[in-house]
Amino acid sequence: MSIADAGTEALREHVAAQLRRARDRSVVLTDAVDDDDLVRQHSKLMSPLVWDLAHIGNQEELWLVRDVGGHEPVREDIDNLYDAFQHPRADRPALPLLNPAEARGYVREVRDKVFDVLERSPLEGRRLETGGFAFGMIVQHEQQHDETMLATHQLRSGAPVLHSPAPPPGRALPAAEVLVPAGPFTMGTSIEAWALDNERPAHDVHVDAFFIDTAPVTNAAWAYRVKADLTAPRFWVRDGTGFLRNRFGHVEPLAPDEPVVHVCFHEALAYATWAGRRLPTEAEWEKAARFDPSTGRSRRFPWGDEDPGVEQANLGQRHLSPAPVGAYPAGASPLGVHQLIGDVWEWVDTDFHGYPGFEAFPYREYSEVFFGGDYKMLRGGSFGTDPAACRSTFRNWDHPIRRQIFAGFRCARDAGPEELA
Ligand SMILES: [Fe+2]
Repeated sequence: MSIADAGTEALREHVAAQLRRARDRSVVLTDAVDDDDLVRQHSKLMSPLVWDLAHIGNQEELWLVRDVGGHEPVREDIDNLYDAFQHPRADRPALPLLNPAEARGYVREVRDKVFDVLERSPLEGRRLETGGFAFGMIVQHEQQHDETMLATHQLRSGAPVLHSPAPPPGRALPAAEVLVPAGPFTMGTSIEAWALDNERPAHDVHVDAFFIDTAPVTNAAWAYRVKADLTAPRFWVRDGTGFLRNRFGHVEPLAPDEPVVHVCFHEALAYATWAGRRLPTEAEWEKAARFDPSTGRSRRFPWGDEDPGVEQANLGQRHLSPAPVGAYPAGASPLGVHQLIGDVWEWVDTDFHGYPGFEAFPYREYSEVFFGGDYKMLRGGSFGTDPAACRSTFRNWDHPIRRQIFAGFRCARDAGPEELA
């Protein structure tokens, strides 16, 4: 069931719980290091952690305190500093940013006002408030920055500060690939209350028959390829003739049956080509994830319409790595494709465009200004993605050279006529 169907008070409680959960995670990620590490730039690709924190508060102030709540600004003077379009990441450390204590105080002050706004919002009427959309957008924004901060942690040097239990063990899958039948399916959504503009509207897409791997490409498969001439993924560390990996400061043996992570789009494409295969398109990925051949309907998630639980997917930073292949049998799609949600973002071979009938909401800068740029799509979320910011319709995009994100891939291939009998 979608949260929009649950009644206004249930929705209000849901929003409050999601806001708290996002903030708990932001606190874990920023309290784990000292002030020096908070203001330092750990990579030119990333903001200082303290920028992300105050930016989270600033977006929350803009949308929920000022717009939804109609209140006076809390800190209008810092809007420019925390506008991502004004300052590229590399320039942010030189800005006169709030220091860690000020940033923490600021996000707390904003949040207190937001709980007040939430109490008064009818959660209907205005489109921005209907179904709690603006609150959902801000929850997802904070969770997305939490994943970005997690990527900054992976780039940070020094002793490990983040720890987690290992993911559940893997299991052999019954097949290495499955056939996705030809025909139309419903891509995107018009009914998911917190879906962002680029996931809308729902529309029919015809997809030719194709085969898709039941699991993402593993470390073992990649290591085999590295012996020839492919580059090791980022954060692999040469150890004699083999490799170790650095995972948030823990240097350890590669887990052979875990999905490979920290590869860029070009590397994923090169691997697939070498293997005599290709990457799926975005429509193919979504059909494999959502299409139920018994009803012809597209599901919210591979396993059905219920939100992700711990049995279905490796999401939400519960584990600080992808889970081995076969670890989530309860999360498989009707066609038998595993681990589409969680573990690693999956590169797909599609550029970023709006769906037919796209309408920018609530502002062009969310998605539209990125259409047609130098981006490839990523689908399904990673171990570092929160369930609130992940669905089978969710679309992420990044530059095809990026490797610091928690991205892997799976392969696909065309189905020949002789295979369709
Ligand atoms: Fe942002």
